[in-house]
Amino acid sequence: MTIVTCSLLAGSACNNAGPKKSVAEDSTAAVPAIEVQPYGEVDGEPVSQYTLANGKGMIVKVINYGGIITDIITPDKDGNAGNVVLSYDSLAGYRQKGNPYFGTLVGRYANRIAKARFNIDAAEYKLAANNNGNSLHGGLKGFDKAIWKATPLPGDSSLLLEHTSPDGEEGYPGTLQAQVIYTLTANNGLKIEYVATTDKPTPVNLTNHTYFNLSAGKDSTILNHVLQLDAPSYTPVDAQLIPTGKIEPVKGTPMDFTTAKRVGDDIGNVKGGYDHNWVFEKEGLQTVGSLYDPGSGRFMTLATSEPGVQFYTGNFLDGSLKFTRNGAYYGKNAGLCLETQRFPDSPNQPSFPNTILKPGARYTQTTIYQFSIK
Ligand code: BGC
Repeated sequence: MTIVTCSLLAGSACNNAGPKKSVAEDSTAAVPAIEVQPYGEVDGEPVSQYTLANGKGMIVKVINYGGIITDIITPDKDGNAGNVVLSYDSLAGYRQKGNPYFGTLVGRYANRIAKARFNIDAAEYKLAANNNGNSLHGGLKGFDKAIWKATPLPGDSSLLLEHTSPDGEEGYPGTLQAQVIYTLTANNGLKIEYVATTDKPTPVNLTNHTYFNLSAGKDSTILNHVLQLDAPSYTPVDAQLIPTGKIEPVKGTPMDFTTAKRVGDDIGNVKGGYDHNWVFEKEGLQTVGSLYDPGSGRFMTLATSEPGVQFYTGNFLDGSLKFTRNGAYYGKNAGLCLETQRFPDSPNQPSFPNTILKPGARYTQTTIYQFSIK
């Protein structure tokens, strides 16, 4: 299995040149074995929940339906453990219509593709339109609704997930083979590594859609969280949240998080709330920001290989979701997402970096959410 992982993730997990700033390091120290529990079934296929623990106070739980992170349990400043992600009590929650991608992997293309179509050379491809005539998060049955093959990796708190998306699925060309490894590191980092290969040119943009609330349910919104993003610019959007194609500076706007700022400070000056792609001007895997909840003392840094992050403040949450964990009320701004990604709608935006993966090439992305106390 180690051989499989290394060949799948060559250039990422195995030959990683490493981040330029200090981020989580893996440890070879023994960690508790991954526990597996039944978690219901989808269309007759069993779903399991995998519990990753590092023996250092942090626990991450993942199900192989959608590769969903159901729990990230970390201690607060008083040593009390709590789940810092929005979640449901059971699979029925994750399966309900309108589940806004709680904890899911997202693919084949995260965020929106305008008018649910794009061209590669002369050929036009039409996608399933699931969001105001646009395509959102991979379409009607994106990677968030797939049953992934899960394999706990020996000797580490790592879970390998694999999914093959057939040629033509949701309108996308080419058979896409995707692998994701979730690793809980010895120093309380959650590392997510993605790899994809294709047999025909196709757009690829993979991410994870976890909603964080670092208060672990004590605070009903994330407005008191303090966010910092090393992002000098962002991609403005139209009324349908489709990028205009411009990349504009954040300086002097409510989008400026280059210095740490309370999320609630300027949110009222952004129509609908934050739901935009911030642009990092850097190369390779680097620490690009942090999130802090003063109430609990929980602090999380964000490191990524990606050029952008969708910072979304749960603007569409309205308390209507069923099966929420312990009956929690998830209203507007109950959680926030930091979806590391390539830019939305890139297949239709000539001014954005190219996101078309070609046969023989390898898509990779790495993101680390690193937890501590301040
Ligand atoms: C999008 C939002 C969307 C949410 C849930 C985010 O990534 O940017 O517009 O409502 O996902 O689907």
